[in-house]
Amino acid sequence: MQIISFMAIKGGVGKTTMAFQLAKYLQSQGQKVLMLDLDAQKSLTGTFENQEFNFNGQPTIADILKKPNIGLIETDVQKNISIIPSTSNLEEVADQLASKPNKELLLFMWFVKNAKELNEKYNYVIIDLPPAWNLLTKNGVAVADKIISPMEPSRFGYESHTKVLQSVETLKEEVIDPMSGKSYITAKVFFLGNRIKHNTNSSREFLVALKNLKNVIGIIPEKELVNASMLEKKGIWEYATENDKLRDQAKFLQLLKNVFSKIQEQGEQ
Ligand SMILES: Nc1ncnc2c1ncn2[C@@H]1O[C@H](COP(=O)(O)OP(=O)(O)O)[C@@H](O)[C@H]1O
Ligand SMILES: [Mg+2]
Repeated sequence: MQIISFMAIKGGVGKTTMAFQLAKYLQSQGQKVLMLDLDAQKSLTGTFENQEFNFNGQPTIADILKKPNIGLIETDVQKNISIIPSTSNLEEVADQLASKPNKELLLFMWFVKNAKELNEKYNYVIIDLPPAWNLLTKNGVAVADKIISPMEPSRFGYESHTKVLQSVETLKEEVIDPMSGKSYITAKVFFLGNRIKHNTNSSREFLVALKNLKNVIGIIPEKELVNASMLEKKGIWEYATENDKLRDQAKFLQLLKNVFSKIQEQGEQ
């Protein structure tokens, strides 16, 4: 089982979108995916809600953070996709946990406790994180095998790259196993250029900047197809098929597939 966290210190860069679309891609490959929504905005959770179904009354990620020794509490939402939803009071819950020992490792403890069952049931865990460097994000980083950090073209795009690396590095030094002296945090960080616009100066400059960075796992253009499929809460391939865009958008769909298969494989021994 592989744990992939989508992390960025700002919003609107595509964390939720890419987390959801990666899950749909893996689902189409017959992989079993567990999704975790750690953002109080509940965007990912909302992507699995519709007129007939919502998560009201279901266990949420807050239950795990409050009691890391509970068992599996996910809700099966689609074939091969289950989710542990978020809840709107997640930030308050996180504030209450701020004084706990090992507060960055609450999710980690739950994974350790349920490792066997999770490994049997899932091939991938995909975690969507809030747009901030807070306790929730730290919990999602601590458990990750891979961190995918989307960046969009902006004056701050490049700065966010440094911030992400520094934040992860600092956390790594903070959560050390006292017996072995090793960090609990083993995640590799990869950057994903996203929302690259056609023919704008900022995008051109951004692409040049990305070339100088290590660990850029892919570059995804700004496409209405992405937006449209998210509005319909669908995987992009499903949406493209239904709306007769497969041929029209073949190049983009192939590019996305390549990026996702690289995310899937990168860093594996
Ligand atoms: N490659 C893309 N092309 C077009 N729209 C995109 C792309 N990636 C993300 N978006 C859109 O950008 C908005 C913000 O994305 P979202 O995933 O919610 O960001 P985050 O989770 O980082 O805050 C959404 O409306 C989404 O549909
Ligand atoms: Mg989001």
